Amino acid sequence: MNISNTKNMLSQLERKINAFGDKFRVLRDRSIHVDYRADGVGVRNKNLSFLDDQTFADAWTMSAELNKEGWRKRKRGVPDIRWRAHICCWAAQHGLGLDGDFVECGVHTGILSLTVCHYLSMGSVPKSFWLFDTFEGIPLDGLNEAQRRQASALNRNVYSNVWDLAQRNFAPFPNARLVRGVLPGSLDEARIERIAYLSIDLNHAPAEMATIERLWPKLSLGAIVVIDDYAFRDHEAQYEAWNDFAARQGKMIVTLPTGQGLLIR
Ligand SMILES: C[S@@+](CC[C@H](N)C(=O)[O-])C[C@H]1O[C@@H](n2cnc3c(N)ncnc32)[C@H](O)[C@@H]1O
Repeated sequence: MNISNTKNMLSQLERKINAFGDKFRVLRDRSIHVDYRADGVGVRNKNLSFLDDQTFADAWTMSAELNKEGWRKRKRGVPDIRWRAHICCWAAQHGLGLDGDFVECGVHTGILSLTVCHYLSMGSVPKSFWLFDTFEGIPLDGLNEAQRRQASALNRNVYSNVWDLAQRNFAPFPNARLVRGVLPGSLDEARIERIAYLSIDLNHAPAEMATIERLWPKLSLGAIVVIDDYAFRDHEAQYEAWNDFAARQGKMIVTLPTGQGLLIR
């Protein structure tokens, strides 16, 4: 074996050892979250440090705890929708720099909006957070047969009268303004001039469309609309309605792996 062959072999060996070292370092560094499997989303080998961000983790834990009573009808309790909550926190944080209030349509006991409130310390943000819901499930009036069946199943399996609990959950945030009533009519009860962040989660296409038609002109340019059920199976009516709406505005909605859609004003 000549010297140059030996040098080649040594440098190949060195490269292999270095590559193994890199892999080993990633495996060894258990402080980095790299896998996630919840809410119909599964990813591997991604940097998911947002899950360990202390402010986010504390906000989520607080929200999940406060929502327990609202999810007592569900065997597995509060669903693990941390990635969806992360998207809402990001969109709301972006809204801090824009003119207008925060709005969520479809609140229940507030998994998403309470995470946002705790994450951003909403009490000290100079904006109102308008929170619209019947606080007793999806209204059945005016629904066709198929819509009525879907809404009744949700009302039976998840929703109930949560008005007292919702009031208690948001009590630490004086600028969180709960509006009880049927959308879109209940929009008349709030004085909203501009909107900097909008989350829509009514699980019902006609109500979501009637609501966005009224709120779209109030959104500040650049404000993000988070559409919670956009790309979920069995929510195709919402998917199509939102795509039609976006196309009429000359916009496109991005589909996230979480099933949420994002639309930017
Ligand atoms: C999926 S839940 C909302 C979950 C909530 N975003 C969270 O983070 O926990 C849907 C909510 O929409 C409400 N809702 C549906 N249709 C409505 C309407 N037309 N007017 C007011 N509330 C409605 C229901 O009462 C229910 O609480």
